[in-house]
Amino acid sequence: MRIDILTLFPAMFSGPFDISIIKRAQEKKIAEIILHDIREFSKDKHKNVDDSPFGGGAGMVMTIQPIADAIEFLKSQRKYDEIIYLTPDGVKYDQKICNTLSTFKNIILLCGHYKGIDQRIRDIFITKEISIGDYVLSGGELAAAVIVDSVVRLLPGVISDETSALTDSFQDNLLAPPVYTRPSDYNGHKIPEILLSGHFAEIDKWRMKQACEKTKRLRPDILK
Ligand code: 6GU
Repeated sequence: MRIDILTLFPAMFSGPFDISIIKRAQEKKIAEIILHDIREFSKDKHKNVDDSPFGGGAGMVMTIQPIADAIEFLKSQRKYDEIIYLTPDGVKYDQKICNTLSTFKNIILLCGHYKGIDQRIRDIFITKEISIGDYVLSGGELAAAVIVDSVVRLLPGVISDETSALTDSFQDNLLAPPVYTRPSDYNGHKIPEILLSGHFAEIDKWRMKQACEKTKRLRPDILK
């Protein structure tokens, strides 16, 4: 899978993408993540990328030209399954959308800043608008990083334990059950006895019950 990210701040991604699972996915050529600096597409003599809003009001709006040229350039190279704008007024991101994105070959993630982007960019180019939750970030970069992380870890061959991604919280509309490792007794805090029994069918049943109870208690809204 190839993910092109359009941003004013490519440096914001150097941490999250250069570590652990996402780093390994890129080294194994399973994921290709390409950062594009929107400012480099600006034809303005000062490389400006924003302007004040028509009709007045606070804040700046990202202009059409640099973003349109960047998207047109990418679209001339290959076909995109989805061109996504990260925005707090988009549809709320969840595991279902994540699973769908992980089946795509090429996507663009466009990160907005300031008061957002000129509406005409959204009208002309954007095929999907995503928010990662009901709170406001200073830009789309952290949201894009969240999406990349959650999608790339699902790509075949990224997580070594093949069943691991399927047992995540949310994959079956249940929160994950508690997990334990050594020591079995930490200052008198013992692990549930069943986990030492070796009865794996019983352990699976126990885990399912824990997952159901935890979901009912903490997230009744996602229970099917
Ligand atoms: Cl995608 N962008 C911004 N700026 N804020 C957000 C968001 C996105 N999702 C939640 N808050």
